[in-house]
Amino acid sequence: MDSVQTGIEKLAIMGQLAAQVVHEIKNSLTTVRGFLQLLKEKQNVPSRQEYFDLMLEAIDHANNIITNYLHLARPGNNSCRKIYAPQKLLTEVSMLMESEAALKNISLKMVIPENLPPLLIDPEQIKEVLINIIKNSLEAMPDGGEVTIRACCDNRKLYIAISDTGTGIEEPVLENIFEPFYTTKASGTGLGLFIARQIIHNHKGEITVKSTPGRGTTMFITLPVLSQEEKPGYMDIQHQTHSLFT
Ligand SMILES: Nc1ncnc2c1ncn2[C@@H]1O[C@H](COP(=O)(O)OP(=O)(O)O)[C@@H](O)[C@H]1O
Ligand SMILES: [Mg+2]
Repeated sequence: MDSVQTGIEKLAIMGQLAAQVVHEIKNSLTTVRGFLQLLKEKQNVPSRQEYFDLMLEAIDHANNIITNYLHLARPGNNSCRKIYAPQKLLTEVSMLMESEAALKNISLKMVIPENLPPLLIDPEQIKEVLINIIKNSLEAMPDGGEVTIRACCDNRKLYIAISDTGTGIEEPVLENIFEPFYTTKASGTGLGLFIARQIIHNHKGEITVKSTPGRGTTMFITLPVLSQEEKPGYMDIQHQTHSLFT
């Protein structure tokens, strides 16, 4: 029943997003077409190189939108769930992101205790969430900085906090960051955090954010540990989570 429900919800979300996905791709095609037409008609265009770069950007944008959209369609039902150790999950994600961080002069730290309780998760999906969050952190630190991954638990939940020393997020932006297609980046898709939230909610967890403009951002995730049965309210979780890490 649970997986049927998840499937129906997923289809509904994909249906809601479909029009916007088509719109974004159409825009990219229009951009590429426009530049191709110009290049075809004029032999010596001075900004030829610039046109090629803009076309490549438009193609990458369309490709990112499609890739992210299709990720929503991937099976996220209970059949993909495995018992997984949080240490293993976080270490794997950290290793995946290490080289990209190093290239940007960013150090990636992990502060996690031993013996965290196991989770019942689709590890590929949860890794995608963590990677989306860390990528945002890297993008918010053009001059280098630090990303710290912390985790702790009580007997019902695992709490993960990912902090950066980046630009932070101003109040009007903060309200929208989980909305589909909301982005402040020239080449962003605005789907990263929307998808992250879908995945975490499908796992009966919560995702929240706390940010100080000019100082940095922390994303908080809670996930039920194996024995957890009921889910408390959102405000309760937000309060508990934020205070655990401050
Ligand atoms: N760690 C962060 N620091 C600063 N801004 C962030 C951070 N994470 C998310 N954001 C803001 O949230 C927006 C939405 O993020 P996301 O859904 O991943 O889309 P995208 O990265 O494609 O813009 C970003 O455009 C950015 O404005
Ligand atoms: Mg992103």
